[in-house]
Amino acid sequence: MRELNGKVVLITGGASGIGQGMARAFAESGAQVVIADVDEAQGRKVADALNQRACKALYIALDVTDREDWRRARQDIESRLAPVDILCNNAGASALNMPVSGLSPDTWDRTVQLNLTSVYNGVAEFVPGMCERGSGHIVNTASIAGLIAGIPDASAYTATKFGVVGLSETLAAELAPHDIGVTIVCPGAVRTALWKTSRSALGLPPADPDKAAASPSASPDAMDPDLLGRLIRDAVQDNQRYVITHPEYDTAIETRFLAIRQASAWTQTALLKHSPKGE
Ligand SMILES: NC(=O)c1ccc[n+]([C@@H]2O[C@H](COP(=O)([O-])OP(=O)(O)OC[C@H]3O[C@@H](n4cnc5c(N)ncnc54)[C@H](O)[C@@H]3O)[C@@H](O)[C@H]2O)c1
Repeated sequence: MRELNGKVVLITGGASGIGQGMARAFAESGAQVVIADVDEAQGRKVADALNQRACKALYIALDVTDREDWRRARQDIESRLAPVDILCNNAGASALNMPVSGLSPDTWDRTVQLNLTSVYNGVAEFVPGMCERGSGHIVNTASIAGLIAGIPDASAYTATKFGVVGLSETLAAELAPHDIGVTIVCPGAVRTALWKTSRSALGLPPADPDKAAASPSASPDAMDPDLLGRLIRDAVQDNQRYVITHPEYDTAIETRFLAIRQASAWTQTALLKHSPKGE
């Protein structure tokens, strides 16, 4: 979607971090930005700051796990602005430092609802209208953890981010005939509040301060979220499928695919033993 001027962009988790970076970037290009978040004070602050810079922004209260909220948000946006052109499913939380043996069913369920089912919720609410209009774009924030294998103590997070990648790839195939693009964002560490917001978003007590401070998003060397916001905006304009921020993970991605290719070759060899000729 090359022209962004006047387009309506809904960004979940838009009150902070990567979502805020996207809000700023889309607003700079003339889009009308809807910041949808559970953090009302911060969401209103981000929208007010954009409006003071002659951009168009509004805050709406939205809990991405609540389908009634999604329905209300769509009706509200359509009556106040226009139908949503670009849907950014970005809100999420990261439950790190949790070995699978110690992961409670509640934390598993909550992570799946917040990181994966939320993306379905947004798609289910907005994609039918986009198909009717024959235009639109979906941005889904996954993670590099959705592409590489075996990050220890992050099973729920990794499972949901692989899920977001799988859902998005299927959407891309289904929606291409309707002229609707899909962009999958797979960042490495980005300097955001994720290390602070995640545990409460997942209904967990605050983390041990040392562990929280060692989270990738707390690192001063992590990527600037405003820069990532601009990259995501450019990807929408170029109808680019993936945004991969950290090339140092390319080898890990290749290693995983190589292991899959080798497993396929092993399976073909093993199958020979079971074929009539191999007997
Ligand atoms: N920061 C990183 O290093 C990093 C890396 C890879 C992927 N990501 C992904 O980026 C996305 C955005 O995270 P961030 O790093 O900008 O973190 P952040 O904490 O700065 O922003 C997350 C926002 O989501 C909101 N939120 C939480 N629960 C919500 C709910 N139920 N409904 C609506 N909003 C809710 C929070 O209030 C917050 O404003 C997440 O999906 C995260 O998994 C982040």
